Amino acid sequence: MQPLLIEPNIPYVCPVCSEPLVSQQSGRTYSCLNLHSFDRAKEGYLNLFPVQFKHSKEPGDNKQMMVARRLFLEHGFYEPMAQAVAMMIDINHSPDKNIQLLDLGCGEGYYSRKIAHFCKQSEHINLHGIDIAKFAIAAAAKKQVNAKFVVASANRLPYLDEYFDFVVRLFAPSDDAELNRILKTSGYLLTVTPGPRHLWQLKEYIYDEVKEHASESLVPKGFEQLTTQRISYKIVPESEQRMALLQMTPFAWQANENVQKTINDLESLEIETDFILTLFVKAMT
Ligand SMILES: C[S@@+](CC[C@H](N)C(=O)[O-])C[C@H]1O[C@@H](n2cnc3c(N)ncnc32)[C@H](O)[C@@H]1O
Ligand SMILES: [Zn+2]
Repeated sequence: MQPLLIEPNIPYVCPVCSEPLVSQQSGRTYSCLNLHSFDRAKEGYLNLFPVQFKHSKEPGDNKQMMVARRLFLEHGFYEPMAQAVAMMIDINHSPDKNIQLLDLGCGEGYYSRKIAHFCKQSEHINLHGIDIAKFAIAAAAKKQVNAKFVVASANRLPYLDEYFDFVVRLFAPSDDAELNRILKTSGYLLTVTPGPRHLWQLKEYIYDEVKEHASESLVPKGFEQLTTQRISYKIVPESEQRMALLQMTPFAWQANENVQKTINDLESLEIETDFILTLFVKAMT
């Protein structure tokens, strides 16, 4: 057996027994004192989601949704929102201080890349991303080699207590107790959720009656809300981008073949985007 290397700043705990993980000398394998062991994939990510916790063969978004999301996002339709996310991080980040930031439910990593690109102090941000979908994490890791991507569940985050200064969560699920555990006291949680009229015109083709989303996000237990910002603007995606947008949303399942064809064949469709950014702080206990 190779000697263990006690690297400083290893953020991970074993997903099976919750003991800290240490790295083997090659840095390719991580293991705990109970000898549960996890290999780094060739793309550079770590899979800390053991099969015994899987409720399905391919949990999270499937490959088709991931590819559609990347195609749509890379056209820049949500870039103004990504810029606002970066600005909120910048405003709440002390200059020259190194921070640990987690993109929770990061998907194929679009926003992790945008945070690195737009944040003024990005050299001081150690970026981590987790998602339960292995395809998405592999794609994220390939594109951003200096960020640390992990396959894991939001309900059982494989990180040390109070490791993170900042968590961002865009359109993804989370668990309040786990968020509390991994954030430092006074650490920040930034969420992005759909605003009341998000993708209204697309939904009009799918639902008989379109309902507005709530205009406020729920305050997670153990957090206090600091600020909220609503960003809305119109986009006019072309047919292929429109179909990708449809594929990456949960309401894609509701659109039968006829509806999909109608949306595909439209000459043009102006669609409202509507995002609610909410900044929370972990409350003192
Ligand atoms: C709507 S997508 C958002 C992805 C990315 N944040 C974005 O906005 O482009 C939701 C993501 O949450 C992931 N997800 C779903 N359940 C999860 C869980 N229990 N733990 C971690 N990730 C999960 C999905 O695989 C998917 O990538
Ligand atoms: Zn273990």
